[in-house]
Amino acid sequence: MLPPFTVIGHRGAAGLAPENTLLSFRTALELGCPMLELDVYRLAGAAPALCVIHDETLDRTTNRSGPVAELSAELLTRIDAGQGQAIPTLHQVIELLNDFRPHPQGGGPLLNIELKGPETAAPVAATLRQHPDLAALVSSFDHSQLTDFRRLDSTTPVAPLYSRWRKNWPSTAAQLGAAAVNLAVRIARPERIRAIAAEGYNVFVYTVNDPATARQLHDAGASGIFTDRPDLMQRWLGATAARSAPC
Ligand code: G3P
Ligand code: MG
Repeated sequence: MLPPFTVIGHRGAAGLAPENTLLSFRTALELGCPMLELDVYRLAGAAPALCVIHDETLDRTTNRSGPVAELSAELLTRIDAGQGQAIPTLHQVIELLNDFRPHPQGGGPLLNIELKGPETAAPVAATLRQHPDLAALVSSFDHSQLTDFRRLDSTTPVAPLYSRWRKNWPSTAAQLGAAAVNLAVRIARPERIRAIAAEGYNVFVYTVNDPATARQLHDAGASGIFTDRPDLMQRWLGATAARSAPC
């Protein structure tokens, strides 16, 4: 299902547009990313809605301040997340992805939903049930949230995220029935990538913005990279394909 080396738009195309906004996701899709990554938090209110933002506060990425957990769905559209962009809901990003599908019933870009805020496993599982044609990968640094998600959804691929190396990754990945193990670039040593790949898991590495590092990870056996600069990565991959094509 995945191409040999996957360029994943990190928070969309965070180096080219305000991160985690519809403009950022559209930019990454127009640059040909076969997969997008985003971060979700639960909104305040009775209905379990999800918004797409990286931090637990609004301070760094918007014109407001305060905790995301206190945000209501009504307020979302009134906040500027950069260049006049609103903070999107997860539903809005899924609708955007549908515009890039070759067929209404399938194909098209994959969505990596990172469970960033607390208590996001259940609303993400509910959202995926509403969109059975969406190809998704659910990941988190909070492996207990992935376990919660797995209890509610036994089929959607999941990936534990690691910012520090943990020798017990094999038991975590096995217990989750993981499809991938996702690593910070600073811990993604070639021998670790090889060991994970040898167990049959994809390895996706974050965040890689220079093609030379991407090439090293590719050569070590990584399945793909998260990047803020899909333009640079697509250019590199295009040049690689051109070089390896027969004369
Ligand atoms: O999922 C890869 C990457 O997004 C994890 O780190 O902090 O950018 O969410 P962060
Ligand atoms: Mg993330």
